Amino acid sequence: MDKIIVKGGTPLHGSIEIAGAKNACLTLMPAALLCAEPLTLTNAPRLSDIATMTELLESLGCEVASLQEGRVLVLGTAKISNHTAHYDIVRKMRASILVLGPMLARDGEAVCSLPGGCAIGARPVDIHLSGLEAMGAELDLREGYVHAKAPNGLIGAEYELPFASVGATENLLMAATLAKGTTVLKNVAREPEIVDLAECLRAMGANISGEGSHTLTIHGVKKLHGATHRVVTDRIELGTYMIAPVIAGGEVELIGGRRDLLEAFCTKLEAAGATISETENGLTVTRDGPIKPVDIVTEVHPGFPTDLQAQMMALLCFSDGTSVLEEKIFENRFMHAPELIRMGADIEVHGGHATVNGVSALKGAPVMATDLRASVSLILAGLAAKGETVVSRVYHLDRGYEQLVRKLSACGADIVREKEA
Ligand code: EPZ
Repeated sequence: MDKIIVKGGTPLHGSIEIAGAKNACLTLMPAALLCAEPLTLTNAPRLSDIATMTELLESLGCEVASLQEGRVLVLGTAKISNHTAHYDIVRKMRASILVLGPMLARDGEAVCSLPGGCAIGARPVDIHLSGLEAMGAELDLREGYVHAKAPNGLIGAEYELPFASVGATENLLMAATLAKGTTVLKNVAREPEIVDLAECLRAMGANISGEGSHTLTIHGVKKLHGATHRVVTDRIELGTYMIAPVIAGGEVELIGGRRDLLEAFCTKLEAAGATISETENGLTVTRDGPIKPVDIVTEVHPGFPTDLQAQMMALLCFSDGTSVLEEKIFENRFMHAPELIRMGADIEVHGGHATVNGVSALKGAPVMATDLRASVSLILAGLAAKGETVVSRVYHLDRGYEQLVRKLSACGADIVREKEA
């Protein structure tokens, strides 16, 4: 396993190119199962999760061609030759569940291992399953797998999600494109990745309206066709790198950055002392005065994104006051706190709340990554801490951050990646 060594104290100057969104690509790729003609995705990020999804889709009979060093993916599913998503792949990446809806819609059958929980929570898939049942699927849960059948095809239905789950919205939206009749999905997720999926499915011939609102209306069609779609910018990678010049000092331009993708986050980052300006290439971020405390509550979009909570906590460790962070999406998403405390942060966690009392400095230390976003929060803290921070288990980072060391060192950060002895 590799480790990343950061020596803090160097202000950052330069530009960072933001990649296509991991969480958009992981739902766009399974959409290729819905039709026999090829789906071409451009601006695809080069991440280990994308490789895992490729492995899964190929196991189902989809042919995936990776062009332009992985930036372009051409996915062709002439036919689904295997309808079972096996545990050994699904356990590596929970987004594997997103093959369930498309396979069911295309062929009326699908078997998918139930994704286990993960470090940040139990993460059940009950909403995915109850939505598919509302559309006429017959589900049988046994030996850790869901066996789904719709021998006469899925039927359009009206279904209200008990929680605006991102993955459930994506699964049900894809399934509804080929259902007989009209499906109305209420209380759906409104994240930019949902909008991106709807735009891609529409390019494939789907009849969808309402993306980005609380309600999606889908009129089923007989067949979809191939298309070419550009993966939307990764708002979580964007937000992560926007924090870098605020925590470390300096000024960084985020190429391809779009403020409309993360308005709630930008408002909080400005309250913490950042200056964000829009440029013709994206966004430029800097900080003039002190880092100020702000209170954060994670919400479904358009609220503050849970995937940027850990990174914001790292910044607030350096503020000149007290901040309270409330994590309302996942039940266990403060695992970065004990690691930040080892660097000298003053944080108290009580259930879903974390109180951060800012300190004047953190000290570099050996720290452990536990999940994707917790890992990167430790890197951010290391950029500003005194001395050297060694982050181990960086394979978490490779799931969601393409060439992180290159991007940060190009802006002057003292950061290297080494093989763990
Ligand atoms: C997506 O996960 C993202 N992953 C997550 O990003 C992100 O944190 C999350 O959405 C919330 O924005 C991908 O898109 C691949 P949810 P997903 O279904 O779809 C509960 C990252 O770091 N729930 O909106 O799994 C669930 O337990 C990852 O890139 C149910 O109870 O998120 C959780 O508490 C981490 N039943 C909450 O809803 C269900 O059937 C949010 O889950 C589904 C979800």
